[in-house]
Amino acid sequence: MVYSKNIVLGVSGGIAAYKACSLASKLTQQGANVKVIMTDNAMKFVTPLTFQALTRNPVYTDTFDEKDPERIAHIDVADWADIIIIAPATANIIGKLANGIADDMLSTVLLATQADVYIAPAMNVHMYAHSAVIKNMQTLVEWGYHFIEPGSGYLACGYVGKGRLEEPEQIIQTIEVHQQKKAQLFLKGKQMLISAGPTQEKIDPVRYFTNRSSGKMGFAIAEAAANAGASVTLVAGPSQMQVQHHQIERVDVTTAEEMYEAMLEHATKSDIIIKAAAVADYRPSITYDHKMKKQPGPLYLEMERTRDILQTLGDQKEDQFLVGFAAETETPIENGYKKLQKKNLDAIIVNDISLEGAGFSGDTNAVTYLNKQGREEKLALNTKQVIAEQIVKLIHEDLEGQ
Ligand code: CTP
Repeated sequence: MVYSKNIVLGVSGGIAAYKACSLASKLTQQGANVKVIMTDNAMKFVTPLTFQALTRNPVYTDTFDEKDPERIAHIDVADWADIIIIAPATANIIGKLANGIADDMLSTVLLATQADVYIAPAMNVHMYAHSAVIKNMQTLVEWGYHFIEPGSGYLACGYVGKGRLEEPEQIIQTIEVHQQKKAQLFLKGKQMLISAGPTQEKIDPVRYFTNRSSGKMGFAIAEAAANAGASVTLVAGPSQMQVQHHQIERVDVTTAEEMYEAMLEHATKSDIIIKAAAVADYRPSITYDHKMKKQPGPLYLEMERTRDILQTLGDQKEDQFLVGFAAETETPIENGYKKLQKKNLDAIIVNDISLEGAGFSGDTNAVTYLNKQGREEKLALNTKQVIAEQIVKLIHEDLEGQ
């Protein structure tokens, strides 16, 4: 994960600065591009030349040492960084960052960057336990900074206790694990609206029209999206399925009309909308409050059209990424494209429900993902969970490519 990443290593003034040399070397060996910033006090322990030789990059020591008139160095390096590591981080640099002080190159870059910042403290055991340091660290944690806790052991000041800079290998491993977790949350910050399940269209108090949809596919997509960090609203028709993830808000509906209302209510604030529900196209024109009595001879019920929710969402679309499903039994791809265009969708998931193992109520599915640019991805027979993960990744790729 550190491979090919742009890493700024901020070295502040503590004896553990010698360990930062090993860290710089290991990061470079693992394929990271490393640029070192040293504070004035750090240079009393090790020289810039050491880091320059290890990283094969110039070392920054002075905010006002502007070598390139085209660029402002501290902003340039702050933007360049994917990751910033402060190792060792003294009580002083922690205090400055927690209080917005920018009086040298390192503290200035720290305020200017958008990168992930990892802080590896190293100091005397009593300093580490001081209320001021603890308060500053708490503030930084609240602001989203990541701490790599110091280990316990013999400290240069003669004390034994907590305050020893974590070993370079361990620092790299902690960052790798954190970055990996972050990469899995590729939909973090996205608001997602998903519909799932069938609808029920009432005839009388004991009878209704419905279909064989179990809701499994839509619920699996909701779980996959929440696992990828999205905040999900799941509008569900009657279904036995349970929501597991705490980031899914479930809205239960029964009829196509109720689903229409719920979807429209949440649509404008959503970034991605997936319409996986099997919505009734027709409902009885008349519903009875009492149970219908049987009569001699056949029964004719008049049906009326429900509103097409997806079509409405497509017609009203602003900048949402809109995805439909198409349940087909004949020429699925051709019909899928037609629906995609007609309903103004960004992508459509075509379900050939005549295939063995694909479709409504089972635990597996096989689908084709089509997007409006003509991308066609066949997702082979698999569990609905795996298909859902693949769909969520494809949507993310398409969003990134927009
Ligand atoms: N859909 C909808 N509202 C409806 C009917 C369908 O939002 N009243 C949505 C479904 O949720 C699905 C997509 O439209 O995402 C396609 O559904 P499908 O039943 O395959 O197609 P229809 O649009 O009903 O077209 P046709 O009956 O011609 O196949």
